[in-house]
Amino acid sequence: MDVTQRVQAFYNTYPYPPEPLLDMPPLGWNWRWSWQVVHSLYYGYRPEQMAIQILDAGCGTGFGSQYLGYQNPQAQILAVDLSDVALEVGRERCQRAGVSNVTFEQGSLLEVCAGTYDFINCVGVLHHLADPSAGLRVLREQLTPGGMMHLFLYSAQGRREIALMQEALRLLAPRDVTEGVALGRQLFKTLPADNPLVRFEREHWAMDNKEDSSFADMYLQVQETCYTVHSLFDLIEQAGMTFLGFSNPEFWQIERLLSGDLLARAMALPERDRYRLVELLDPTANHYELFVARIPLTSWQPTDAELLQTTPHRCPYIGYWPNEKVINYNYQPVTLTPPQVQWLQACDGVQTVAELNLLPLNEVRALARDLLVLLAR
Ligand SMILES: C[S@@+](CC[C@H](N)C(=O)[O-])C[C@H]1O[C@@H](n2cnc3c(N)ncnc32)[C@H](O)[C@@H]1O
Repeated sequence: MDVTQRVQAFYNTYPYPPEPLLDMPPLGWNWRWSWQVVHSLYYGYRPEQMAIQILDAGCGTGFGSQYLGYQNPQAQILAVDLSDVALEVGRERCQRAGVSNVTFEQGSLLEVCAGTYDFINCVGVLHHLADPSAGLRVLREQLTPGGMMHLFLYSAQGRREIALMQEALRLLAPRDVTEGVALGRQLFKTLPADNPLVRFEREHWAMDNKEDSSFADMYLQVQETCYTVHSLFDLIEQAGMTFLGFSNPEFWQIERLLSGDLLARAMALPERDRYRLVELLDPTANHYELFVARIPLTSWQPTDAELLQTTPHRCPYIGYWPNEKVINYNYQPVTLTPPQVQWLQACDGVQTVAELNLLPLNEVRALARDLLVLLAR
């Protein structure tokens, strides 16, 4: 069996993720899967077109696909995966959640029928390909010229203990993945309680890994490539893509680790080296989650006259809204003044900033920066 067939067999035995199916719309909100929020973040304005095409490449059991469908109700989502078993769960998940704009198809992302997607979500998939770089290049070709892609890839540093346990289990030579799970669980029970691999599992993953499919996904992978910041940026560049930003940006802020002269030195580094410094000094991230684009994007910076002509739409998700203390798209707390609350309440997606005429423009800009409003041009 080649790598693709082995990966397919693996996920047919242990479809992933094992998130339960609910008879209700998906819980909460994830901005990474909202086209209008991602577009506003990187383009600086709300997209004109909402009826877009989205590809969920390697959708697994459709956990992300249901959010893509739910949070982008005018879009059509094609969710592709190697595993029939996972796709069956995905179909049922969406049906039970009342999400009807997702179509699930069996196949390899390397062979997706030519399409032009405005947005591609490829989470936890490319690192299971024999050649992730080839996979990324194929996906790049599927994007519209101005399209964006959300990626999630493993990091070598934060998965050190996982990689050690994976290799140990390979040496113990389980007959198949099911026996591998049994052997792995036995191994964790047998090792001393203060063993570093046992401690790592207990402190970070024990809850998730109660599910056999999560345990297998972590310790019994048939194929896995892990990255460093440098090899990640090489991968992106070799695919001819542009890095837009991490989708967990707070982790990558060197300011949370350094100050004074050391911070000044770090800030003078090129972007890639600065991120490398973060992962060297805080080697806990087990993955990279990021947005890339097919072409470099320039964020629109409206003049005052242009800003007055925009139509502000309140962000589809504002945690704790309506309130003076809210959570922005990226789950950061923001305190609003009473006039700002009033202004946000008045944002109906119809009146322009000039028509609303309620708030100084610098405050409108601040609310737009926090993506509490998305500005339609
Ligand atoms: C760890 S799961 C991630 C599932 C989902 N994206 C998520 O984050 O919840 C990896 C998935 O990638 C799929 N996969 C791996 N290689 C693939 C390929 N070449 N084409 C399509 N799917 C693939 C596997 O079948 C598996 O369902």
